[in-house]
Amino acid sequence: MKLLVIGSGAREHAIAWKLAQSPQVETVFVAPGNAGTALESRLKNVPVTAIPDLVAFAQQEKIDLTVVGPEAPLTEGIVDAFQAAGLKIVGPVRYAAQLEGSKSFAKAFMLKHGIPTAMSESFRDAAAAHRYIGQHDVPIVIKADGLAAGKGVIIAQTREEAHSAIDTMLVANKLGAAGSQILIEEYLAGEEASFIVLSDGENVIPLATSQDHKRLLDNDEGPNTGGMGAYSPAPVITPDLHDKIMQAIIMPAIRGMAQQAQPYTGFLYAGLMISPHGDIRVLEFNCRLGDPETQVILLRLKTDLFTLLNHAASGTLDQINAEWDTRAALCLVMAAHGYPDNPRKNDVIHGLESAMADQRNANEFHIFHAGTTTSSENREQILTAGGRVLSVAALGETIQQARSKAYAIVKNIHFDGCQMRRDIGYRGLKS
Ligand code: AMP
Ligand code: GLY
Repeated sequence: MKLLVIGSGAREHAIAWKLAQSPQVETVFVAPGNAGTALESRLKNVPVTAIPDLVAFAQQEKIDLTVVGPEAPLTEGIVDAFQAAGLKIVGPVRYAAQLEGSKSFAKAFMLKHGIPTAMSESFRDAAAAHRYIGQHDVPIVIKADGLAAGKGVIIAQTREEAHSAIDTMLVANKLGAAGSQILIEEYLAGEEASFIVLSDGENVIPLATSQDHKRLLDNDEGPNTGGMGAYSPAPVITPDLHDKIMQAIIMPAIRGMAQQAQPYTGFLYAGLMISPHGDIRVLEFNCRLGDPETQVILLRLKTDLFTLLNHAASGTLDQINAEWDTRAALCLVMAAHGYPDNPRKNDVIHGLESAMADQRNANEFHIFHAGTTTSSENREQILTAGGRVLSVAALGETIQQARSKAYAIVKNIHFDGCQMRRDIGYRGLKS
């Protein structure tokens, strides 16, 4: 089988690496991939990113199955384009991907299908939004409607902050079209968890539970990022909560999409807030796997990923189960100087080669690349090339052990300006 993975982050590196372990898989093309995917056996980078070019590539290479990592191509309709060309692909069609692409679509969908979420109202008019703030308590949450690469959510602690967020999005247009409509949402307190499932449009397989750390700095301080680390399982998701989430959130969403004649195929990620009393509400839906959640989830997956995804794309997920390593996994993200606002590029990464040699001898950790590139002057040298640079993910008998192992590995990898949290997993250790 020849497969294609679309994307260039550590999530896509992990997906492609896992797919390549399948005895049924001959080559996994990664479009466009990164310096890490270039080094893996049976993975091949291809410098293609536009949807029509990806369709042409898949036709020409006779790709058996394509897997999409990031949200942007999904919301732009890559699945519709592949299916129209008769190509097999895992992911939601453009209509269903609006669950992530438009927060007002997601809200209306949740209301319609009785899925619990925060109360909110949608605005295009700044004056009306300002009036609404005057009538509600703080903290309050202001969200850009469209995709804004992690910059679209402001948790306003004061009314002044809320008014200024409204002006930034609706008046100054700082987020462009993504912020030309906003949601103002009730603030929810509690603990966050990511709940990710794979669906074929009707049947659903929940993936191992996980939690990520979205803030840049220790103690969950500093700006929001794509995610600075993750661990699996998430002790906050008890078996009881797991059932509740499946019944109250996941199944209504999958059935709701099917009722709207747009069956949801692919990964569905519910970002949840769990209140101290155990009430669950959806903060957001994503139409893809999480990053860095994928790195810990796939490290624990024992089932052949290609078989799982092929069943998802063929409508036969009821014929298979997913098995998970009973060990825990934890992932640390090493980010570039200046991330998330202004990541610096071209810092030399030291120590990678020997760390990656160790990984070949032990199957208990993996270094996934994200913003990396090979130096044009010295092909042996790997440079930083983006915000999140590396994801170091390790298995251990407990979260504590996985954590010690991951921190021991990153000690040997260096680049100037590296930002890394020192407290990944602390919430998982409390219980
Ligand atoms: P989102 O992109 O909607 O997931 O928001 C990004 C982050 O903002 C979430 O991971 C939460 O930490 C926080 N957040 C979003 N909505 C709310 C809310 N209604 N109440 C409290 N925190 C929120
Ligand atoms: N780690 C959060 C996300 O992938 O959206």
